[in-house]
Amino acid sequence: VPVQLIHGRDEWRQTLEAARAGGLTVGLAPTMGSLHAGHLSLVRRARAECGFVAVTDYVNPLQFGDAADLVAYPRDLEADVALAASAGADAVFAPSADEMWPAAPATTVRVATTAGLLEDHCRPGHLDGMATIVTKLFALAGPARAYFGEKDYQQLLVVRRLAADLSLPIDVVGCPTVRDVDGLALSSRNAGLTEAERAVAPRLYWALLAGKRAIEEDGVTDPAAVTAAMSACLAAAERFTLEYAAAVDPDDLHVPVQLEADVRLLVAARLGTVRLIDNVGVTVPAALLGAASSSTSQEA
Ligand code: PAF
Repeated sequence: VPVQLIHGRDEWRQTLEAARAGGLTVGLAPTMGSLHAGHLSLVRRARAECGFVAVTDYVNPLQFGDAADLVAYPRDLEADVALAASAGADAVFAPSADEMWPAAPATTVRVATTAGLLEDHCRPGHLDGMATIVTKLFALAGPARAYFGEKDYQQLLVVRRLAADLSLPIDVVGCPTVRDVDGLALSSRNAGLTEAERAVAPRLYWALLAGKRAIEEDGVTDPAAVTAAMSACLAAAERFTLEYAAAVDPDDLHVPVQLEADVRLLVAARLGTVRLIDNVGVTVPAALLGAASSSTSQEA
């Protein structure tokens, strides 16, 4: 069966209702199009786990602070549909802005847990616009499972939390970041890099690896020292403007006094006109945790 391309909300809802009525589990991969191998990994995972695979392809104006950024965002629906089909999608929903919002929305979904932190600090309103559209996409599709990349780590936390808080019967599945051979996390925004910028872009990932090494090899458990190692790595290349480097609790993104068992390292930087983000998870070696707690107990 060829992939169905659907533009209307009613037809989309009916298509997914029919799939559920036929006993199929709906898996949803929400995207803003410009599909790359990262998106396709979400579609493939949905294909492996669900009877009906729904992909949405909608550049959501609510999550863009800057009108020029919205206009410049890459779009190629024809290529997206072919790629989604190749990864096993059953249907692609590509609504126009008017179809999505017949009236301008008066409702905003805001998850307070990580408000003011990292992405919400740098791009006020972005996560709220994302959470609002994702809630709407969930309502339209009624998926049992929904797939999000870990590359947008704070987004994943926000979506998990809104699904839990609003009792949405949706299993939010985080999927590993897909990287180019040189380590650069795949992003539709990478297309905006010049050749020279693309050449240095993997340094963003190196910065994360420098933070990971500081913890794993040098035994650093002070978050500020880990952050310094990450920043130093980016400062060594001229073209980057660092927005943040952070070593935080993976569940709520707060900075602990001393790193605990699980840490998320996150980084955001501008490279020319393009803003890039990336992150990795690190498990702090048990020996370091023991050392920190035993020195505390000796002091006590
Ligand atoms: O990650 C994205 O591409 C977008 O933020 C999403 C989840 C499709 C919402 O517009």
